[in-house]
Amino acid sequence: MAGDTASAPASAPPTAELAAVSIADLEPATSRTRIRAILDAGDALAGQRVVVGGWVKTGRQQGKGEFAFLEVNDGSCPGNLQVMVDKDVHPLPRLTPTGTSVLVEGVLKKPPEEAKQRIELKVEKVIEVGEVDAAAYPLPKTRITLETLRDFVHLRARTNTIGAVARIRHQLAFATHSFFDENGFLYIHTPIITTSDCEGAGEMFQVTSLFSQAEKVEKELRENPAPSEADIEAAKLVVKEKGDAVAQLKAAKASKQEITSAVSELHKAKENVSRLEERSKLKPGIPHKDDGTVAFENDFFKRQAFLTVSGQLQVETYACALSSVYTFGPTFRAENSHTSRHLAEFWMVEPEIAFANLQDDMNCAESYVQYLCKWLLKHCREDMEFMVKNYDKTAIERLELVSSTPFERISYTKAVEILKGTDKKFENKVEWGIDLASEHERYLTEVIFKKPVIVYNYPKGIKAFYMRLNDDQKTVAAMDVLVPKVGELIGGSQREERLDVLKERILAADLPLEPYEWYLDLRRFGSVKHSGFGLGFERMILFATGIDNIRDVIPFPRYPGRADL
Ligand code: 4AD
Ligand code: MG
Repeated sequence: MAGDTASAPASAPPTAELAAVSIADLEPATSRTRIRAILDAGDALAGQRVVVGGWVKTGRQQGKGEFAFLEVNDGSCPGNLQVMVDKDVHPLPRLTPTGTSVLVEGVLKKPPEEAKQRIELKVEKVIEVGEVDAAAYPLPKTRITLETLRDFVHLRARTNTIGAVARIRHQLAFATHSFFDENGFLYIHTPIITTSDCEGAGEMFQVTSLFSQAEKVEKELRENPAPSEADIEAAKLVVKEKGDAVAQLKAAKASKQEITSAVSELHKAKENVSRLEERSKLKPGIPHKDDGTVAFENDFFKRQAFLTVSGQLQVETYACALSSVYTFGPTFRAENSHTSRHLAEFWMVEPEIAFANLQDDMNCAESYVQYLCKWLLKHCREDMEFMVKNYDKTAIERLELVSSTPFERISYTKAVEILKGTDKKFENKVEWGIDLASEHERYLTEVIFKKPVIVYNYPKGIKAFYMRLNDDQKTVAAMDVLVPKVGELIGGSQREERLDVLKERILAADLPLEPYEWYLDLRRFGSVKHSGFGLGFERMILFATGIDNIRDVIPFPRYPGRADL
């Protein structure tokens, strides 16, 4: 490709000139103090000169326009720093609109006794400003619903709620790595593009370049139509003529130079025929095979490929070599779910443990969730208090309860018995063999047990092929962790490690064996008992914050009909 060549663009200065530009010529680095550090210090930093950068949450002129107070936030914490600017320092109307960005230098001061702030910044120099035309700024100053905010995905990070969610999300990710690292797990990056359907549910987004290839070909053909049979015949005739010419020259013992030149023309004519023949094969549309199916061998990977629904199958290859591993990445499901608990793109944390059975798996899941709750209580106090005030009064209590109470563990059969035994009228009838609906799961955890519940040993018919078949031949060693507010937070199982049984289960699920041969190899060679689970990362955030809709706890939500940015 022309763009990949190593030659420098024509306008680039010569290398010697480039070398003469030293680091000293660059703008000096910015030494900015985070607002969190200032607020955490209380009035201990009074008198200090600092540079602060952030966005104005609210700004108001006071003292008949002599000075302005700006509430500035830089994302380091929920709190704002009060910033005071005199009109002689900068034109105040250019600083006060909500959303304005400011980089200012000044001295920290203790405000008067009666003020609610413990510290404020008296600005001496405005270094940079990103102005906002208040009339055109899309986000209103007044409270706006999370649903409306989804129409401003590019600006919503400036709101208090989405900022708090971002910090909580960050801490949960950090806690995840910390928990697994402390427990000797290796973080494995499993592929996002895959050729295996982990859940066998056929809910995968396809990755293909066939459409863009087809568009390119169609454009090409519009501009330069494919040669006809007659064009090719004519070109072949030219080859014959050139061939005859060479033969005649040779027969006439013509000069070497003459012959070479005629041979070269013959080659060119032959190349022209090949090119025309090649172009005549170009067809508009997606390539198909003779049997009418799509010819995926023409696709980018020369086979069908998809976005992963789970990194489990691939991470198992590492568990079956390095014993305790986990993957944490985006997963994709093309299910047409419009619920407040489902996304088309969500993040999953998936540990996989060798030499572990279902009980070990439950123990790991329970410790991990408890660890996350404790971590938030310790590291996200202010943001959690914000959630309590604005979204869910019980959010902190719930974290405290969950981090200190053992989870209930009941079999699926027992869960069905309990649900059948209540007076509660469910929309979905409860019968042994059904997949528990969200209403059932939430009833168990919120009403019956009032704490997280692990349901285990599900009917084999409703679970994936890789789960270990129990001796009763009817259930599999699966477990789901159900939590208040959310329902299913975690799905996991002991894996089927017996080659014959696994083969049967794949076939019984109407799946072909061939794509799973590599997975079967893990059972053919050094098979090991192993277990794992997947925690829906956004569901964990819903559970922690008490926010109602999963679309508001992921930075860029993707769901049917929506993929902004
Ligand atoms: O129960 P699931 O489908 O399990 C698996 O994918 C296994 N392969 C995991 C494993 O054993 N390694 O999904 C796991 C969790 C669910 O419990 C739920 O919390 C979340 O992922 N989840 C979703 N979260 C948001 N949107 C969706 N569409 C989700 N589907 C599942
Ligand atoms: Mg599940």
